[in-house]
Amino acid sequence: MNRLADGQLVHDVLAVPDVTEAYRQQEIWDLKSRLAYDVAGRIRQRYETEIAPAYAREHGAAPTSRHVIGELMAEDPATQMWSALRRSGQEQMWGLVAESTARQFTRLTGVAGSLLGSSGSLTLDASVTIPAYLQTVDIHCMPTGYYREHGPDDLTAGALYDRGVYIYAAGQLGAANDDKGRSVIEHWLDVHHPELHPEAILDMGCSVGHSTLPYAERYPAAEVHAIDVAAPMLRYAHARAASFGLPVHFSQRDAEATGFPAGSFDLVVSHILLHETSTKAVQNILTESFRLLKPGGLMIHAEYPPFTTMDPFAQFLVEWDTTNNNEPFWSTVRTLDLEAMAVRAGFEPDQVTRELIPTGRRLVTGQSSAGRIGLIVARR
Ligand SMILES: C[S@@+](CC[C@H](N)C(=O)[O-])C[C@H]1O[C@@H](n2cnc3c(N)ncnc32)[C@H](O)[C@@H]1O
Repeated sequence: MNRLADGQLVHDVLAVPDVTEAYRQQEIWDLKSRLAYDVAGRIRQRYETEIAPAYAREHGAAPTSRHVIGELMAEDPATQMWSALRRSGQEQMWGLVAESTARQFTRLTGVAGSLLGSSGSLTLDASVTIPAYLQTVDIHCMPTGYYREHGPDDLTAGALYDRGVYIYAAGQLGAANDDKGRSVIEHWLDVHHPELHPEAILDMGCSVGHSTLPYAERYPAAEVHAIDVAAPMLRYAHARAASFGLPVHFSQRDAEATGFPAGSFDLVVSHILLHETSTKAVQNILTESFRLLKPGGLMIHAEYPPFTTMDPFAQFLVEWDTTNNNEPFWSTVRTLDLEAMAVRAGFEPDQVTRELIPTGRRLVTGQSSAGRIGLIVARR
C-alpha cells in the first residue's frame, strides 16, 4: 500500500491531502511536535532548575502535588505561551483536516458505500443513545465530536479522526495508527498467552478500528466484533477494514450495555476508551465485560497510565489536556482503582492484574509516561 509523504498508510477512504493541504498540515505537525517535545522539555528544565528550587527555599521542599505545580506554572510566561500555542495548534489541526475531509466528502461516502457487503459487516442502530459524556464537549477539540452526522451515510467524523490522530501523534502511533492494539498483542497476549486461539473477540469503543485490525490479523480464525456508539466512526471503520481486506463485524452499540448474549466472547478488549467516559460508565463497562466473557475468557482494557507511575511534573503536563483540551475525564481515570472496580464487576480478586506495557513507539506528550500504556486485565 502507498504512504503519504509523512508516512501514513493510504487506504481507500483516507482523506488524502492535496499539495496545499499537505503543506499546511505539515506546518501544524511541526508546531505541535516542537511544543510537545522541545518546548515541554525546556519548561520542565526551567521548573527543575528555577521554579521548584525557589518554592523549596520558601516551603522547605519541592511541590509533590500536580495542583500546586499547576498554580506555580500558571504564573510562568513561557508556560503561558506554550499552553496558548498548544490549544491554538490543536484547533488549527482539526480545522485543516476538516477542510480537506469536507472537500472529499462525496468521494469518501461513495467509496464506503461501494465497499458495503465486501467484507465483514456494518450494523447501525439509530436507537442507540449517545452518552452524555460524549455530548457535553467536543472531545479533544474535534469539531464534530465522534457522532454528529451532516447527512445520510456521513462518515466525516471517522475521516477526520483517522487523519487528525495521525498528525496529532506526529506519526508515533504507526503508519496505520494501530500501535495500541499491536502493543497489547505483542507485549501482553503473545507473552502471557501464546497458546490463545480465541473464537470470538470484541473490541469496545473501536472508533475507526485502528486497534481492532491487529486482532483480526493476529487471530485470523476468530470472529472479530467491534462496537462504537458513533455511526460515522463505524461507517468509516467498516470501509477502512474492507480496504485492508480484513473481515470485522462493526455494530453500533453502547459498551455499557451491548445487547450481545452473555458468554459470547473469549477476549474482550478496549483501547483508550475509558478516559473518554465517566466513573459510572467505567464500572458499567467492566461489569458488561464480565457478563460477555465465556468462562476462562480474558478482559483487557488498555488506558493511559495512572498518575502513580509518573512524577508530579509529568502529572502536571498530563493535566493540561483536562483543563485545555476538552478531556474532562482525562485526569480522573488515572486515579481510579480499576482492580477494585473489576472485582466489583464480578471477577475473582486473584484473577485481576494491572500492568504497564511498552507501546512500540513513543507517545507524543513529552511526559515521563510516554512509551507506556496501562492495562487492566482479568480472567473470568
Ligand atoms: C479514543 S476513541 C477510541 C480509539 C480506538 N479504540 C483506538 O484504539 O484507536 C473513543 C471511542 O469510544 C467511543 N465510545 C465512547 N463511549 C462509548 C460507549 N459507551 N460505548 C461505545 N463506544 C463508546 C467513542 O465514540 C470513540 O469512537
